[in-house]
Amino acid sequence: MKDFKPLVRLIFKLFISIFLLISLVFLGLYVYNSNLSYFVKEKIAAKDWVLKDILIEISEGSVAEDVEYGYRLLTETSKWIGPMAENPEMHFSGNNISCTNCHLKAGTQAGSASWVGVTNRFPQYNGRSNKDISIEDRINGCMERSMNGKKLPKESEEMKAMVAYMEWISEDLPKDREEEFKGYPDLQVPNVDVNLETGKALFTKECMICHGETGQGLLLADGSKGYQYPPLWGDDSYNDGAGMNRVLTAAQFIKGNMPFGQASYNNPKLTDEEAYHLAGYINSFDRPKMENTEEDYPDLKKKPVSTSYGPWEDSFSAEQHKYGPFPPIINYYKEKYDINKTK
Ligand code: HEC
Ligand code: HEC
Repeated sequence: MKDFKPLVRLIFKLFISIFLLISLVFLGLYVYNSNLSYFVKEKIAAKDWVLKDILIEISEGSVAEDVEYGYRLLTETSKWIGPMAENPEMHFSGNNISCTNCHLKAGTQAGSASWVGVTNRFPQYNGRSNKDISIEDRINGCMERSMNGKKLPKESEEMKAMVAYMEWISEDLPKDREEEFKGYPDLQVPNVDVNLETGKALFTKECMICHGETGQGLLLADGSKGYQYPPLWGDDSYNDGAGMNRVLTAAQFIKGNMPFGQASYNNPKLTDEEAYHLAGYINSFDRPKMENTEEDYPDLKKKPVSTSYGPWEDSFSAEQHKYGPFPPIINYYKEKYDINKTK
């Protein structure tokens, strides 16, 4: 019997080792597997992610109060915080257009500087003020310029509601879809100056039916909710300090979004050059003036080339900054400062 003891011990050790080994293999498999299913789940989430439909969710009662208020403010801006608001203390925006006349489909339309994912990109460097700005500052940029109004207090219920809405439409946005919703389509900048005759002919053919012969637009039947077709120039439009007043920015917007219902980000109707002449045409008319625009872009090198108001870091004429041709100005900044300008 004595002689068997070492053998038994050996067999016992062998068993324990095999048991441990098998457990290890199973543990490994388990970890691998759960990671794999985690990975697969992520992939499915990215593929299945869809834009929310706020009206459906409101009817189902699943939208938080602040988000819904934000939605109302952004889509019926004048009624709540503009000239049509009953309480004069609430007159922050200065015209009767809505934020979503430019940020289409309640800010969810790709190619119209959509707000899907926007809150993740702030704070962000801003050339116009030459410092990092918050999402609230950026909203106020549009309040003072696109809406020709004044700033909303950052702590106001209205500002918080707008941001809450933007966060809500961005929920669970997969990383690889962020780019799709950001900004405007690229534009091949034509190496010609804007031809106002060409712009006018295109306007008559493609735009006038909705925006009107004098660009005045058309109020909705319930006028307190703003415009059905927003005005493109004149007293009730964006002011001259707005991004849309830059020919290259407006051309990008028009290319990706107009004529409404016919053009989209992936499928523009107009050529880059047509959008460009149209942008020059709508911006050739009078519109409200922004004060203190000479203080914009403290570092003048950062000023977009199609900013129509001075001063500039270069010696190109005011006329050329308004109507182009822009490639010579773009080349100047590339060669002198190694800055790549697109607008
Ligand atoms: C007349 C058109 C117009 C209107 C109206 C307008 N905006 Fe804008 N908005 C712009 C333009 C142009 C930009 C810059 C887009 C670009 O260059 O990518 C912009 C940018 C923004 C951005 C930053 C987007 C980003 O991706 O960084 C936010 C946020 C924003 N606007 C919010 C608002 C809000 C809120 C309102 C209403 C209070 C409003 N806008 C009204 C034209 C407009
Ligand atoms: C079928 C009607 C229709 C046509 C045609 C049309 N638009 Fe628009 N446009 C709209 C509507 C509607 C909006 C606002 C979008 C919204 O609120 O959803 C808009 C918004 C705009 C805006 C931004 C809002 C603002 O206040 O400045 C510009 C710029 C614009 N259109 C330019 C044009 C140009 C240029 C053309 C011709 C190529 C054109 N549109 C053709 C209906 C139209």
